[in-house]
Amino acid sequence: MENNRSSWGSNIGFLLAAIGSAVGLGNIWGFPYKMGKSGGFTFLIVYLLLAVFVGMIIMVSELAVGRKTKLSPIDAYQKVSKKFAWIGWLATIAPFLIMSFYTVLGGYCLQYIALNMTKLSFGNDSVAMSGGEVFGAMLTTPLGCVVFTLLFIVICMVIVQGGVSGGIEKFNKVGMPALFVMLLIIIVRSLTLPNAVEGLKFMFVPGYAVKAGFIESSPNLITVLGTAGGQMFFSLSLAMGAILTYGSYLGKEENLVKNSAIIVVSDTLIALVAGIAVIPAAVANGIAQGTPVGQIKLGGPNLLFVTLQDVFSNMGKLGPLFGVIFYVLVLIAAISSAISLMETIAAHWIDKDLAKGETDTRKQRVLIVSLLILLEAVIVAADGLGSNFSPASLLGISTVPTFLDCFLDFMDCWSEGIAMPLGAMLMALMVGWETGPDLVLDEVAHGDPSEGFKKFYRLCIKFIVPIVMAFVLAGQMIDFFGGSQMIWYVVAVLLLVGFWAFAFPGSKKEE
Ligand code: PHE
Repeated sequence: MENNRSSWGSNIGFLLAAIGSAVGLGNIWGFPYKMGKSGGFTFLIVYLLLAVFVGMIIMVSELAVGRKTKLSPIDAYQKVSKKFAWIGWLATIAPFLIMSFYTVLGGYCLQYIALNMTKLSFGNDSVAMSGGEVFGAMLTTPLGCVVFTLLFIVICMVIVQGGVSGGIEKFNKVGMPALFVMLLIIIVRSLTLPNAVEGLKFMFVPGYAVKAGFIESSPNLITVLGTAGGQMFFSLSLAMGAILTYGSYLGKEENLVKNSAIIVVSDTLIALVAGIAVIPAAVANGIAQGTPVGQIKLGGPNLLFVTLQDVFSNMGKLGPLFGVIFYVLVLIAAISSAISLMETIAAHWIDKDLAKGETDTRKQRVLIVSLLILLEAVIVAADGLGSNFSPASLLGISTVPTFLDCFLDFMDCWSEGIAMPLGAMLMALMVGWETGPDLVLDEVAHGDPSEGFKKFYRLCIKFIVPIVMAFVLAGQMIDFFGGSQMIWYVVAVLLLVGFWAFAFPGSKKEE
């Protein structure tokens, strides 16, 4: 059976695919504005610390569990753990829910590419609309959004049907270098705009976001920890089964620690570089249009689809060209992430088929998964970020917590908000306290990690990761559900202590 299981063509192919999974909308869109809104430099420092002490540790652990078992998440966790076998379900349902909106956002990118191309071919005047008008018109045309979402799903489907090395690896080998070149072009354009430096200050000068009026006051450190932690996990594709699945196709001779470090560093660098490309352009354009600095919109979906479209519309003749380059770049980033999510879900059935001796079912399984994703994505596409209907309006509620705002937030709440931090916390408790860290360290040993790394790993997986994840979980629940912050911290701590007791070897011997 094992001989028929897919594998990567080369380590560099794996690395590009894993970096492709990590680099996505989270980097180009989420990172820059979350950094600005959460106190700029403080956020950056917290983010970097979390990436080293938590992100890197979970990355190594997921790759090790994947490669050791050579299975997709559901079966992999069942194989390594008695008490936590069900984490695999969290790590498979979460990507499925993420796909409900990731594909819709991918569809938006396709529409913006088409729009800028039309402008490019017909001149500026025939299709002159501001970013706000374009975005509003798009959201209130559900049919268009559904069609482009479908198109995005079909693109991903065809790539994943091509197989691990024949589809996913091939796409990333071309897509990732292309993305990088396009990013450089956009950076040069962005930083040469007048007043671009104001945007850099927003990102890098401590306290500037408050001083200039972008935000009222700096958030407290615990809030920053929650935001940065959530962002870091999403951005590194962790606790969503994707990295575990990609690791399961990796050869025994590859060095997991080194590979993890390369993925974490690349993803973080690209997030920073994307921020430097996006924020200064948005701020420079706002100033040029006479908007007071603090009122330039840098948060939420507006940044990518309103503010930046304005930047390209106001850039003169070459604007639409930069628009096309930029949205193609975002599209590639979105595809390379979406295919990792799709692969994670499909791999479960493909593995099951292989175990039964059926070797040729990938195309058909991926088709079924794509249809299921389409079903949920249609709802998210049609509600137009709440412009047309929302969970709250369907329920007839007027004052609403964030998670009922629109179907995107609703799906995001269960996946990124809960399943992801909870899954990571449980995985750390499982490895740290149930199976013992050697589950991972023995697998890593093929690359012969130093004693220093082993000590560092044991410390992080047992203590630092679970505790940080409890804070991230509380932060996400505060964001999505609102209400008393204290209650959510108490809930998170109770979960942490409860599951720790459950994981602890003496708690319940099962054999
Ligand atoms: N990391 C991707 C991003 O930054 C999203 C993603 C999350 C992809 C989880 C796969 C798994 O946009």
